[in-house]
Amino acid sequence: MDGQAAITAIKEVVGDNGWLADAADVEPYVNEWLKILEGTCQMVVRPSTTEQVAQVIYICHNAGISITPQGGNTGMVGGAVPDGGIVLSTERLNNVRELDADNATLTVEAGCLLADVQATASAAGFLFPLTLASEGSCCIGGNIATNAGGNNTVRYGNTREQVLGLEVVLPDGRVWDGLRGLRKDNTGYDLKQLFIGAEGTLGVITAAVLSLVPAPRDRVTAMATAKNWEDLLKLFRIMRGRLSGSLIAFEVFTDLGMEITVDHIDDAHNPFTDAHSLYSLMEAACYDNEAAVREAVEKGLGEAFEDGIVTDAVMAESGQQAANLWNVREGLPEAQSMEAMVIKHDVSIPISRVPEYVAQGGSIVTQTIPGARLLPFGHMGDGNLHFNVLQPNDMGRDAFLALKNGINRKLHDLAIAMGGTFSAEHGVGLNKVGDLAHYRSDVEIDLMARVKQAFDPANIMNPGKVINVG
Ligand code: FAD
Ligand code: MLT
Ligand code: ZN
Repeated sequence: MDGQAAITAIKEVVGDNGWLADAADVEPYVNEWLKILEGTCQMVVRPSTTEQVAQVIYICHNAGISITPQGGNTGMVGGAVPDGGIVLSTERLNNVRELDADNATLTVEAGCLLADVQATASAAGFLFPLTLASEGSCCIGGNIATNAGGNNTVRYGNTREQVLGLEVVLPDGRVWDGLRGLRKDNTGYDLKQLFIGAEGTLGVITAAVLSLVPAPRDRVTAMATAKNWEDLLKLFRIMRGRLSGSLIAFEVFTDLGMEITVDHIDDAHNPFTDAHSLYSLMEAACYDNEAAVREAVEKGLGEAFEDGIVTDAVMAESGQQAANLWNVREGLPEAQSMEAMVIKHDVSIPISRVPEYVAQGGSIVTQTIPGARLLPFGHMGDGNLHFNVLQPNDMGRDAFLALKNGINRKLHDLAIAMGGTFSAEHGVGLNKVGDLAHYRSDVEIDLMARVKQAFDPANIMNPGKVINVG
């Protein structure tokens, strides 16, 4: 089938509501959230059933048309930016298929918004613990494809830990039905693990069985301030020691983060009157005795005060106050984009080395881009820092972006030297293909390339992302 006949056949499969081709309609699907990369596509295809996805991919496979799977298009590494073939949007694949309360599982289609998955779990008395600032616009399929991390990994792990089964359309159009809701299943290779975090390079995830946990009865949320990163680390050790498995989040950010978020985001307010260098936002879940968890947080903060580790602290006294504290943390990514052009980093290092990374990384930024504003923030509780660099006030966009690869390499080198990695939770996408090739061993690259070739020998499934083959 030639290209034009294939496009016509795809339109017939998905019907009039299932495709978009006008430039204005297509625009949101070819531009990324960060507004740096812009792709092209022949059309956006929006199937509404797994069977339609399978037929569309079968046609693409026969015609040699590349497919870029897309969920909410909130990815941070260009993984959903199309390369000239079709965008396969999951937005109409958004049914909840089953909630099995006794099995504590939720089976959903890939295009369900993460916020809707959370709400469905919550309405049934469960928690789906994945929590990200993009939860109102990212989709569960995208979360699985990127193995998203977010704010609650300290307690519940990454997306991978929440997935029991998958349904996937393979690059040749066959459907793999692995929708099993089992917590024990040592039946050969665990194929679903390959699709989780593959960023759409091995197949299109169409549905998933998610593992739910009981909803906490309550939460205790507090924000504390500190003078330096060593003290933030000491505070984390104190809170982890006192709260153990109840600690579900330990997020950090700097004074610049507080300042620009309060400036740009309407419902973000600084709960402190004095100026502080660093902030940590922590949350503990109460499964049994709310008073005991609250007391543990109070005692932890009290100990940190006595030792001069924290300079001030507030504890939320209501759900609304907790939400207000979270508004600051959740507003950070958007506030940065509103403030300036941002060169992002998503490094992971052993938690013990976070202060060292910040000190050495800070010197690298100052030397490499004089005038740049540094904004390290993120998930200190799991060692994942977004070591972001904001455009200097007196530097143009293009001049700043020209420095991106150089500063990326230096800060990634530093993470690797400390036993860390250059991609903690956002993935590799298009932006970090060169980093993966540079930092990973020949053996690892060879194995990854062979996995890609085994699943997608024609290289039509999100080609050029994660790893370059052939
Ligand atoms: P998309 O951006 O559409 O796609 C991402 C990748 O997955 C692409 O490679 C795409 O091809 C592939 N893909 C999408 N759907 C499928 C599918 N059904 N089958 C196969 N492949 C698919 N990320 C974190 O990890 N932690 C955070 O804390 C976090 N916070 C964020 C905050 C903000 C404000 C924003 C804008 C982003 C944040 N992100 C975070 C990044 C992003 O939200 C996550 O990577 C999210 O998981 C992407 O989901 P999506 O549906 O938007 O995927
Ligand atoms: C976050 O933790 O807020 C995100 O991963 C987004 C970002 O890096 O800006
Ligand atoms: Zn993050």
